Amino acid sequence: MKVTAVIGTGVKNGTIDKICQSILDGARENGHQTDTIYLSDYSISPCMGCFKCLGNSNCDIQDDFNKVFEKYVDSDVVILGSPVYMGNISGLMKNFIDRHNGNAMFTPPLMAKLKELPSKERLKSFFSKISKDYGPKKEMQGKKIIRVIAANKPYFLLTISGELRTTYEALKHYIKEMKCKLYKTILYSGTQFYPEKEVKILKKAYNMGKVL
Ligand SMILES: Cc1cc2nc3c(=O)[nH]c(=O)nc-3n(C[C@H](O)[C@H](O)[C@H](O)COP(=O)(O)O)c2cc1C
Repeated sequence: MKVTAVIGTGVKNGTIDKICQSILDGARENGHQTDTIYLSDYSISPCMGCFKCLGNSNCDIQDDFNKVFEKYVDSDVVILGSPVYMGNISGLMKNFIDRHNGNAMFTPPLMAKLKELPSKERLKSFFSKISKDYGPKKEMQGKKIIRVIAANKPYFLLTISGELRTTYEALKHYIKEMKCKLYKTILYSGTQFYPEKEVKILKKAYNMGKVL
């Protein structure tokens, strides 16, 4: 299998990077092919909401996203690594996810014409003619996804504040939208308070990679 880690932090060799690399080490040990995408190494513009992707299923923006997408799309297992930033996934990760709207989704040509229909017809037409084809492209579907999350706050603060749920949900929604499967989650909470936890978490990550 091809196992790819997408690193949604600019900190190389930081917590997220180390956990993801440990999973990949385990996966390599087990004979899998591995790759790492450091999102911070690429110039990926935010989605500009132009909707030119509607009906043609490709993004009009000329930047590094196509390069990243090519590396990513044929992976069987994807590790999505993000720190908690302001109670959510990082901007790097969110930006990467938003850009899927152009390249990863199939939007039937009729979708672009929806606005031209009388308003009463739009929903009916969407459900009868468009919705069955609309969705992630075949090659996007069915990937096993591993969520890797790190946060400064200890677990009890992360849960009380609701930010763990927000962060988990952001990735869960993406996984559902792409018709992929959430395989496992690794959370390192309290990175600043409990640095001694790292050894145990990296071991867990390595073992997870070994049994993929
Ligand atoms: C801009 C920014 C926002 C952050 N927001 C949060 C937060 O809302 N909650 C939290 O627990 N930690 C927050 N953190 C801390 C990081 O999640 C934490 O340091 C994490 O371990 C970083 O992982 P990394 O070194 O792999 O990038 C924030 C850090 C930064 C730089």
